[in-house]
Amino acid sequence: MSLTLRAYTPDDFDKLHAIDQACYPSGIAYSKQTLRWFLRLPGAECVVAELEDKIAGFILAQQEGPNAHLITIDVLAHARRRGVGTALLDILEHSLASCGARQVELETATDNQAAIAFWHKHGYRTVGVLKRYYLGRLDAYSMHKSLPAPKET
Ligand SMILES: CC(C)(COP(=O)(O)OP(=O)(O)OC[C@H]1O[C@@H](n2cnc3c(N)ncnc32)[C@H](O)[C@@H]1OP(=O)(O)O)[C@@H](O)C(=O)NCCC(=O)NCCS
Repeated sequence: MSLTLRAYTPDDFDKLHAIDQACYPSGIAYSKQTLRWFLRLPGAECVVAELEDKIAGFILAQQEGPNAHLITIDVLAHARRRGVGTALLDILEHSLASCGARQVELETATDNQAAIAFWHKHGYRTVGVLKRYYLGRLDAYSMHKSLPAPKET
C-alpha cells in the first residue's frame, strides 16, 4: 500500500467536499460553504491522505493555544481498516503537540460505532453526552485526549 500524507492545498477542495458527502449522512456532511469556513479558520490544519496517488481521506482540526478541536476525519469506505485514519490522526496530533496543543476535543455521534472504536483505540475518552447535537435529534459524545508535551531535543 502506497500511503502519502501531505498538507491540504485549495486545489483539493472539491475532492474533500465530495469525500465528506460520502462519509456522512445527508444533513451531517458539511456544505461547501461550511467546509470552506472551517478550512479558513485561524489555526486550522488539514492533512490529506493519498492512497496510490488518489485522495482517500483527510483530517481537519483547529488549534487555539493549548486547545485543539478535531473538526472531522474522513476516510473513503474502500480505504478503511488499512491504517489510513490512524496515520492521519498520528501526524495531526504530533503537529498539534509541536505547536503547543495539550488537549484535543471532538464530538462523535453516539450511534457511530466505528468512530467510537477508533477514538477509544487512540486514547480518547468520553467526557459527556451532547443531547440532540446533530440535526437537532442525534446525540453526540464529547471526547477528550491529553497530548504529551513534545520531547526536548
Ligand atoms: C472512523 C474512520 C476515520 C476510521 O478510519 P480507518 O482508516 O478505517 O481507521 P484505521 O484503519 O486506522 O483503524 C484503526 C482502528 O480503529 C478501530 N476501528 C476502525 N474502524 C472500525 C470499525 N468499523 N469497527 C470497529 N473498530 C474500528 C479498530 O480498532 C482499528 O484497528 P484494526 O483495524 O487493527 O482493528 C473511518 O471509519 C471513517 O472515515 N468513517 C466515516 C467518517 C466518520 O465517522 N468519522 C469520524 C467521525 S467523529
